[in-house]
Amino acid sequence: MSALAVSNVDVFYGAAQALRGVSLTVETGKVCCLLGRNGVGKTTLLRTIIGQLTPRRGEVRLEGADITELKSFERAKRGIAYVPQGREIFPLLTVKENLETGFAHLPRGERKLPAEIFELFPVLSTMLGRRGGDLSGGQQQQLAIARALVTRPKVIVLDEPTEGIQPSIIKDIGRTIRYLRERGQMGILLVEQYFDFAHELADTIQVMNRGEIVVSGVAGELEADMIKRHLTV
Ligand SMILES: Nc1ncnc2c1ncn2[C@@H]1O[C@H](COP(=O)(O)OP(=O)(O)OP(=O)(O)O)[C@@H](O)[C@H]1O
Ligand SMILES: [Mg+2]
Repeated sequence: MSALAVSNVDVFYGAAQALRGVSLTVETGKVCCLLGRNGVGKTTLLRTIIGQLTPRRGEVRLEGADITELKSFERAKRGIAYVPQGREIFPLLTVKENLETGFAHLPRGERKLPAEIFELFPVLSTMLGRRGGDLSGGQQQQLAIARALVTRPKVIVLDEPTEGIQPSIIKDIGRTIRYLRERGQMGILLVEQYFDFAHELADTIQVMNRGEIVVSGVAGELEADMIKRHLTV
């Protein structure tokens, strides 16, 4: 059974169709990379998975259970964590308070910050009292990933975590994703526009174009050129 399975999803914004019959699966302990140019529907798919958008057709399943009708709060409680594009750190809350926003999805007895988030991102432990808005872009991205991990999710969904981030922190993010994959407790869905970063980490690759999945397969078996054709303008 897949950690996450999206099948045949159609999503509209008003009259405009943004997703057309999109299907993909994410397995526990694996990285599924979703690639595609600007505006093809990547974020729309993620918002459908986390429950901010409801598909007109198709379904979303978490460990086999149909969650298509559940609200995003319920999905978060069941184990879907989201690292949004642009990070969406609360600028006026401290780093510690930003991390603790994840507690809302946890039972009372489990509301502790896992030590591993500070092992993965040591810089955060030195900045717990700083305001989120005072962090650099890279630090905010690390905070957004750490915040998602606070809920100990079954599936983590990351929307372009390397966008506008300096190379040294991109490396840290890559290392974190590899660690999570090897630990084998969650499925990872990574949206990217940068082929090299995605290709290094991915077990499976899906490429989206104009609301449809146009390439799908095991990372090592797909031709790089065929993928890149859908990424370069
Ligand atoms: N709230 C909205 N209302 C109407 N149209 C929208 C809305 N959000 C996105 N769209 C449109 O839906 C399409 C897909 O957008 P989406 O944000 O999913 O693309 P994306 O692949 O994430 O792009 P990017 O790489 O730039 O983040 C685009 O044509 C976009 O203009
Ligand atoms: Mg997007």
